Amino acid sequence: MKYLDFSKPVVALAPLAGYTDLPFRSVVKNFGVDYTVSEMISSNALAYNSEKTKKMLTKSPNEDPYFVQLSGSSEEIMRLAVEKLNECEGIAGIDLNCGCPAPKVFNHGSGSNLLGDLPRLQKILKTIKKYSNKHYTTAKVRIGIDEKIPVDIAKAVEDCGVDFIAVHGRTKKGAYKAPVDYDAIAAMKEAVSIPVIANGDITDLAKAKKVLEHTKADGIMIGRGAVGKPWVFYQIAQNNQEISNELKKKIILEHFSKMVEFYNEYGTVMFRKHLHTYSKGYEGAHHFRDEINTITDPKKMEELIRNFF
Ligand SMILES: Cc1cc2nc3c(=O)[nH]c(=O)nc-3n(C[C@H](O)[C@H](O)[C@H](O)COP(=O)(O)O)c2cc1C
Repeated sequence: MKYLDFSKPVVALAPLAGYTDLPFRSVVKNFGVDYTVSEMISSNALAYNSEKTKKMLTKSPNEDPYFVQLSGSSEEIMRLAVEKLNECEGIAGIDLNCGCPAPKVFNHGSGSNLLGDLPRLQKILKTIKKYSNKHYTTAKVRIGIDEKIPVDIAKAVEDCGVDFIAVHGRTKKGAYKAPVDYDAIAAMKEAVSIPVIANGDITDLAKAKKVLEHTKADGIMIGRGAVGKPWVFYQIAQNNQEISNELKKKIILEHFSKMVEFYNEYGTVMFRKHLHTYSKGYEGAHHFRDEINTITDPKKMEELIRNFF
């Protein structure tokens, strides 16, 4: 297993349920991403052996270090889930989701709900830390539910002995659109001695540099900025905005081929949403999207991709 080197800014792919599955992660991992995280996995589903959940745990051979992100609010169930992960090889760490605002997660006391009850958040984190046989325990947080309490959150998390924090600089109330509070991220960084990774609305090299400078964070995490643009990590690693259409096409085809490998024929249908974003800004994109929305055959889809991009 490779260890993270925080002597220079770390660059991570954010977990995005429904997007950052194994095929997507394996593609971005080639571009200088330091670590990848699974999509959020419910501790309940993992503890009780859902087959779909097991598939979501799988990583690509190039993902190292690889983190599995769990959500949950019960210590008992979290312990069972961690014990399941203890049987799996190739996982560097377990990340606790303390940021998800979705009602089906929040209303069960999980995700960002934990930010409203820091002692409970600590119990869950300490359970992971106590029972996990993985190298890292981490937390991905927001800066509060309604009110901003970034420093309280950072200190509560650090107190559990976790290795680092990733912070999406919005409250739960701020959803995905309120301005990201980079001052709050800076305050968290200032308040703790463990590394802090800044997240939220980082979409390109210039913004990545600006956020690192402003927050003094130990790294950045990119989510939506990589959807339809996985090469953003290449641009950051190379300090270079240039990326040819030829290379983009190669990457899109590679992503598609990995989707079919992982999901079989259904990968074609699942890839449609990615093609919608990949085709943004291309001439004839509207027609292309209509056309691919009816395609289920991988060979036909590949041909359309080759002809369009
Ligand atoms: C569709 C979608 C799915 C997400 N799924 C997760 C998830 O599974 N786990 C998690 O911690 N955050 C999840 N997030 C939040 C992102 O990881 C990230 O914190 C947020 O989008 C802000 O970063 P960005 O502006 O770079 O996208 C999700 C966000 C979106 C838009």
